[in-house]
Amino acid sequence: MVAAEVTAGVAAESAPVEFTAFHPTHKADPYAVYQRVREARPLCPFMLGDIPVTVLTRYADCEAVLQSDDWVHGYDAGISPFRDGAASAPRSFLRMDPPDHTRLRGLVNKAFTPRIVNQMAPGIQALADRLVDDALATGSLDVISGYAALIASATLGHLLGVPDDVGASLRGWALAIARGTDPDNLLTEAELVARRQATQDFQAYFEELIAQRRANPTDDLISRMAAARDRDDALSELELLGVSSLLVVAGMETSINYVGSAVLSLLRHPDQLALLRARPELLPSAVEEVLRYDPPTQFTMRTACRRTELAGHTFARGDGVLLVSAAAGRDPAAFTDPDRFDITRYHGPRPARRHLGFSVGIHFCLGAPLARIEAAAAIGALVRRTTTLELAVDEAELVYLPSLIHRALATLPVRVR
Ligand code: HEM
Repeated sequence: MVAAEVTAGVAAESAPVEFTAFHPTHKADPYAVYQRVREARPLCPFMLGDIPVTVLTRYADCEAVLQSDDWVHGYDAGISPFRDGAASAPRSFLRMDPPDHTRLRGLVNKAFTPRIVNQMAPGIQALADRLVDDALATGSLDVISGYAALIASATLGHLLGVPDDVGASLRGWALAIARGTDPDNLLTEAELVARRQATQDFQAYFEELIAQRRANPTDDLISRMAAARDRDDALSELELLGVSSLLVVAGMETSINYVGSAVLSLLRHPDQLALLRARPELLPSAVEEVLRYDPPTQFTMRTACRRTELAGHTFARGDGVLLVSAAAGRDPAAFTDPDRFDITRYHGPRPARRHLGFSVGIHFCLGAPLARIEAAAAIGALVRRTTTLELAVDEAELVYLPSLIHRALATLPVRVR
């Protein structure tokens, strides 16, 4: 492992800036650390628990790694330095490499069509509108548990064909499994146990649902995935289980945290909230700007599968990197005035450069079209149906969950009128 030998400019020897973003004191605002590290040590050696890795904070470096086939997950080949129990059975293709990733993603793509996603839009909007109206009746709302979580569980429940009463359990499972997507060596024993339990409960429920849908197919995604074929190929029982669990894990907490981040960003920038109220056509651009400015997924991991160069540094096979896409979104080399939250950035004929909030390359978020619909419905309803939207607690009281990959507000109480 050569991460410690990084020679990124003179700053490495004179002022050893450390990557301290995971320290609890930086939880509320990791962006100042990202900036310091990006400026002083863009390829920054870091001990992830006991695993030496290199942290990447520049847009160009993150984008290059995500798009290069020199970088993989490496769990299948046994070369990943990240010990990751979440990558084991039932297999999910989020952390697989080609050719397995290509095959599974292709089969799921056949079932997860734009038509299915677009058909869901009116129902998602109606739910968001109803939840805001309910909140207006009382004047208060927890944006996380009383809004975003209900929209995300109903959406995923509907997509997968899970009955409404089980939809609520989806969130509990997703929460435990989402914390468990951080590298295993950073989890407590209790968190590992919670992940194991949630995975078992989830599997038991979905095994039965999959068997039912195989026997009596309906129009939901599980029935379609069970039927999806590519020549002689089809998803095995275990693969179907893996994909169902991936969709819940990848689609639930991300969407919930997205709404928390979007609402908080608008509350912190009243001029942008007023602008969105005045110009609703900016909503799609506002949705993208949140993914650049304060994305729910802060970083991802990759491993070099051969000796390779990046920004003048040589990595050996098996070296791991943390790509901090949230830091890349604030890179002044990629975005003008990057610390400004500007909901017009992605509007008009010359939108800003694409953000990395949904990643790029072969693992680009498969659920991005659905995520965009959910995001626009949730933000749109709150902005359109209220005239007052304000934080109901002191900002200093806001608490983030311990997850590192996911940037997750525990609650976000607001007053609405
Ligand atoms: C705002 C909400 C969302 C965000 C920010 C988000 C973000 C991401 C990111 C960053 C990745 C790639 C990670 C990497 O490269 O290592 C990803 C992958 C993925 N996402 Fe999303 N996601 C969101 C919502 C959803 C939804 C709603 C679904 C499905 C229902 C979904 C399904 C997936 C799947 C299946 C993958 C794996 C793709 C692959 O490995 O080929 N996501 N997502």
